[in-house]
Amino acid sequence: MYSPSLVLLATVAGALARTPAGFEPSSNTQLIVEYNNIAAMNGMMISKEASSKAPRLATAEKLTGTFAVIMVDLDIPSNTSRTNTLLHWMQMGLTSADRATMLNTTSGQNMAFVLENRQNTPAAAEYIGPNPPARNPLSHRYTEILVNVDNLQAASMNALATAARTRLGFNAMEVLMRAGLQNKVVAGNFFNVTNPGPATGNGGNGGGANRTSTDGGRTNTGTTTSARPGASNTSLINAGAVSGAQPALLLALATLAAVFLGF
Ligand SMILES: *[C@@H]1O[C@H](CO)[C@@H](O)[C@H](O)[C@H]1NC(C)=O
Ligand SMILES: *[C@@H]1O[C@H](CO)[C@@H](O)[C@H](O)[C@H]1NC(C)=O
Ligand SMILES: *[C@@H]1O[C@H](CO)[C@@H](O)[C@H](O)[C@H]1NC(C)=O
Ligand SMILES: *[C@@H]1O[C@H](CO)[C@@H](O)[C@H](O)[C@H]1NC(C)=O
Ligand SMILES: *[C@@H]1O[C@H](CO)[C@@H](O)[C@H](O)[C@H]1NC(C)=O
Repeated sequence: MYSPSLVLLATVAGALARTPAGFEPSSNTQLIVEYNNIAAMNGMMISKEASSKAPRLATAEKLTGTFAVIMVDLDIPSNTSRTNTLLHWMQMGLTSADRATMLNTTSGQNMAFVLENRQNTPAAAEYIGPNPPARNPLSHRYTEILVNVDNLQAASMNALATAARTRLGFNAMEVLMRAGLQNKVVAGNFFNVTNPGPATGNGGNGGGANRTSTDGGRTNTGTTTSARPGASNTSLINAGAVSGAQPALLLALATLAAVFLGF
């Protein structure tokens, strides 16, 4: 049985995180993500069409330093019982604009500091728009983390650049640890894009038009996946058989209730 205080901590942390529950590295600071005036934040659903081109990124506070954004789809269908991940974007060389700009956020129009690529740093992984296929899970979570990459050593830079070459199975925590950047995440976000379905069973790429290998559009056995790779294995509340945010939260709440009731 988990210690009640740890469960409480985990529950509170999960409630505050701007990244999907269970995803590591998490962040409690909002990264503003906006596609052509459409706010793509707080897990909100936006259309595939709206998100076809790279979004504007911003933060409420002006940031000092140089940053990289990493965007990952956590819900790529696979042949196994677990979903896979796909790197959608890795862009370094981002700096806060000097002046705030009006942006549409999920809490309305707000002034924020847009992250700019002033040096025209080439993307380590070019932006790929969300394109969830008609396979389960139909709804995909796209998470973005902003990482401080100030004074990055060559070895760290290489670790990122090397990781960016393999999009499928991208594990953000592992990659950041290899680059020594696991504690440098300054903001996070996620939104979702959902294929209207219905999900097809067998049949190659599941009916998703134009799937490429980097879309994770692999052939399938019709497996319905529910496990979420974004859920960290080391997270206390996700330990054991429970995977995915909602069961973990329920477990945490049930545990709390049990503690209060004296069980
Ligand atoms: C702001 O974004 C929301 C959600 O993405 C959208 O519904 C709304 O129309 C946008 N508002 C403006 C003024 O564009
Ligand atoms: C995506 O957003 C829709 C609409 O808000 C919601 O019904 C659905 O559960 C979300 N999916 C995920 C995976 O968050
Ligand atoms: C397939 O991809 C090509 C190149 O990206 C694009 O021009 C074409 O419109 C796509 N076709 C469909 C059906 O999406
Ligand atoms: C998924 O399963 C199909 C059908 O069994 C198989 O042809 C395909 O190679 C598998 N894909 C992967 C990536 O294992
Ligand atoms: C979680 O554990 C499974 C099975 O032990 C392993 O295959 C997977 O790579 C792990 N995922 C992460 C994010 O560590």
